[in-house]
Amino acid sequence: MRILANRLMSVLRTGCPWHPILSYFWDMQTIISVRDLKKKYGDFEAVKGISFDVKEGEIFGLLGPNGAGKSTTLEIIETLRDKTSGEVIVDGFNLDKDPGEIKKVIGVQLQTSGYYPGLNLTELIELFGGLYNRDVRPLELLDTVNLRDKARARFKELSGGQKQRFSIATTLINQPRIIFLDEPTTGLDPQARRNLWELIKEIRKKGTTVIITTHYMDEAEVLCDRVAIVDSGKIIALETPDRLIDNLVASGFERPKEVKKANLEDVFIHLTGHGLREEH
Ligand SMILES: Nc1ncnc2c1ncn2[C@@H]1O[C@H](COP(=O)(O)OP(=O)(O)OP(=O)(O)O)[C@@H](O)[C@H]1O
Ligand SMILES: [Mg+2]
Repeated sequence: MRILANRLMSVLRTGCPWHPILSYFWDMQTIISVRDLKKKYGDFEAVKGISFDVKEGEIFGLLGPNGAGKSTTLEIIETLRDKTSGEVIVDGFNLDKDPGEIKKVIGVQLQTSGYYPGLNLTELIELFGGLYNRDVRPLELLDTVNLRDKARARFKELSGGQKQRFSIATTLINQPRIIFLDEPTTGLDPQARRNLWELIKEIRKKGTTVIITTHYMDEAEVLCDRVAIVDSGKIIALETPDRLIDNLVASGFERPKEVKKANLEDVFIHLTGHGLREEH
């Protein structure tokens, strides 16, 4: 039933103009609930009592300046960092009581240092599959991130964009209900960034909830259903990107008129092409 509902919502989400109205009446289920979360590092309070809900099947963005507390918040939800106080519920499991259950339903992007240097991509996927006790089909998984060609390559032999794609593939190995992506597109070229957007949309289409941080506002605008803007450990806005923009415009804000109809990024994309290309 849940899968059916997810499918229906994803169909609606990808192209139905009535989606915002329908989803308003059909209250999507909350999959993550964070209440009054606080985190102190010594005397310094990095997260100052934040609360938010993430709905099942949405792409939820955490935006905000360097040091705002985004990664700290994510790592607490991912069970990788202790909180100071507050309540976190993930897929019905309380972080204080069932962190092990939470680990089973989430996929987390590993730091690049987490990959064994001597193993190739197929072997790495098999290794992670073994750790999660899951049957894996490495080539199928590599297909989803367009890395089949690199099945025999070692992680360190990949380009930056390929490394990012592979690390996203590894979040999917345990077939999680939620994946966490902390700045997945930082350092990628404009085309590789767009390719990753497509990949993230595909993952969500299959019903996986995505929580993402990014410093690229165009990316958040394209990808996120809702964003929380975090500043100095507090959420200062939480809305759909569209509504945040409308609210700003309604307040009288006006952007200086743009003189040109394209920018340098448009030139880059136009010259280098949109398609998914291998960076040999
Ligand atoms: N292990 C730690 N010990 C002490 N302070 C820490 C630790 N980790 C993070 N901080 C501090 O907590 C604050 C929030 O850091 P965090 O990494 O959560 O920010 P962020 O929003 O992810 O920033 P960025 O956009 O730069 O990734 C920062 O001031 C940081 O210096
Ligand atoms: Mg961070």
